[in-house]
Amino acid sequence: MCGIVGYIGHREAYPIIIKGLKRLEYRGYDSAGVVLYDEKDLKLSKTKGKVSDLEERVAKEISTKGTIGIGHTRWATHGVPNDVNSHPHLSNSGNLAIIHNGIIENYEPLKKELIKRGYTFKSDTDTEVLVNLIEEVQKNENIKLGKAVQIALNQVVGAYAICVFDKQKPDEIVVARLGSPLAIGIGENEFFIASDASPFIEYTSNAIYLEDEEMAIVRLNKDLKIRKIKDDSLVDPYIQELQMNLEQIEKGGYDHFMMKEIYEQPNVIKDTYRGRLHANEGLIKMAGIEDNIDKFINAQRILIVACGTSWHAGLVAEYIFEEFARIPVEVEYASEFRYRNPIIGDKDVLIAISQSGETADTLAAIKLAKEKGAFVFGVCNVVGSSISRETHAGAYTHAGPEIGVASTKAFTTQITVLTMIALRLAKAKGTLSISDYHRYLSELETIPEKVSEALHTNDSAKAIATVFKDATNFLYLGRGYNFPVALEGALKLKEISYIHAEGYPAAEMKHGPIALIDEQMPVVVIAPKQGHYDKVVSNIQEIKSRSGKIIAVVTKGDEQVRALADHVIEIPETSDAMSPLLTTIPLQLLSYHIAVMRGCNVDQPRNLAKSVTVE
Ligand code: F6R
Repeated sequence: MCGIVGYIGHREAYPIIIKGLKRLEYRGYDSAGVVLYDEKDLKLSKTKGKVSDLEERVAKEISTKGTIGIGHTRWATHGVPNDVNSHPHLSNSGNLAIIHNGIIENYEPLKKELIKRGYTFKSDTDTEVLVNLIEEVQKNENIKLGKAVQIALNQVVGAYAICVFDKQKPDEIVVARLGSPLAIGIGENEFFIASDASPFIEYTSNAIYLEDEEMAIVRLNKDLKIRKIKDDSLVDPYIQELQMNLEQIEKGGYDHFMMKEIYEQPNVIKDTYRGRLHANEGLIKMAGIEDNIDKFINAQRILIVACGTSWHAGLVAEYIFEEFARIPVEVEYASEFRYRNPIIGDKDVLIAISQSGETADTLAAIKLAKEKGAFVFGVCNVVGSSISRETHAGAYTHAGPEIGVASTKAFTTQITVLTMIALRLAKAKGTLSISDYHRYLSELETIPEKVSEALHTNDSAKAIATVFKDATNFLYLGRGYNFPVALEGALKLKEISYIHAEGYPAAEMKHGPIALIDEQMPVVVIAPKQGHYDKVVSNIQEIKSRSGKIIAVVTKGDEQVRALADHVIEIPETSDAMSPLLTTIPLQLLSYHIAVMRGCNVDQPRNLAKSVTVE
């Protein structure tokens, strides 16, 4: 939620900031702004809209000269998206400029106090309160900016990643984080600051990820110093070598990141199991699991917490863990779990799933489970993310950067990781027969090829999209392993095409949703041959006899459903347990094509952001 970029060094800051903001637009895109410093003064330009709107505004408003600057792309929390509420915000004196990702929860009392002291506010934002609080501290105590930021932040409740700049001291930027990510790229006599490393990937491969409650002052031609915000103690900087490359964060010839990421799935699933799955030797080796195998085997229960698509991957995992490893599993929305005084203790294992590794509710659920003594394991995509650091152990999905706001490859790689964990535990517990265990291991190795084949459904998905692009409602039905896929298919459609869609367990239809079915209602039924095929066929018949339009995802060669359905999409044959990795592919493609045909912004759907760092 919100992307921030800063630069201090010897290059022109503006092009770096604008390019960086474009890469961070997945984090928010309702308004954008920039402040540059050019030896005398601050030059501010900001606007409602996207970074491209900002570029147009800047061209009319300010000179882009200057080797120091900060910029922001916003996902509104406090105050509607408009020019005034856009960041950067200036302090009352006009000396300080700030950009902020997060929420200052106690901004109202702070604002009242500042108003009493004569401060005025132009915007409705919490951020403008923070910059004036810093100014007030600086003025009263007559101290340097870094110290003033530190004192102010100690009065603040909430979450932040901030960059603050003082035009009276134009050789430094002060940055700090609590709960929102902040990376510092280290170049030759230059520093880059950003919400993630993508804005500076072509300039340096050395980065520091600030930890919560840390701040840093980046100074021109000086070494970086990191301090704890609370007690001012110095922290040894840990410089990481970035694994990301430029190609990964560009569209590579596709019209949208979403399509690129859908098509990356065969390769990234391979990356997910590479070095971990050794089918020939009958082994799964995952360090995070091996080091903690006793915790998993002795767990009285596994709790899975996540949000959105990651929660759907958790639901698939529930079926897999219970079937393979016979461990009871509960799956919860992180946002519900954290606020309901859950019963959880040291005999429980909590698995937190998150693509970004920054989702505020998931992070809070992890902290709660840790406080209550549970062992917490993370399944994250973003290396070095907050969740990957907050958990006791974990496994990365290795899907590479996912930039399209609608999650695709993150989902299938999460399921791949969770399947491997379930198989490893099944082996340790002896809950699968040896032949089944080996069969699943070999089958997992064939999944990338089958996903490639499933991608051949693109043309059918596009043709079906042409028929249903103007529908106002969709139903998605599945049973067993494919019930979560029905939920995921519906989520994909609604988030990028704005068509109302609901996912249901197919058998639940009779308990209410069947009333919705008429000749206008497209019903996507996930009906692979394995699992509860016959039952799903009966459900299809129920829809057909009420004139619903059936779009069925079936196993290649299925004639029975073909005879009933209006449209059929064929996927390769696979086991029930691994079918979600295939059935989900045509649903991603269908939602993509419908959204494109409706003229929607596929990669940046309205009201959404990729990384939900506020609750
Ligand atoms: C849907 C989507 C969201 C995320 C959710 C959790 O396409 O992307 O529902 O899955 O916001 O995000 P992470 O996985 O980053 O915790």
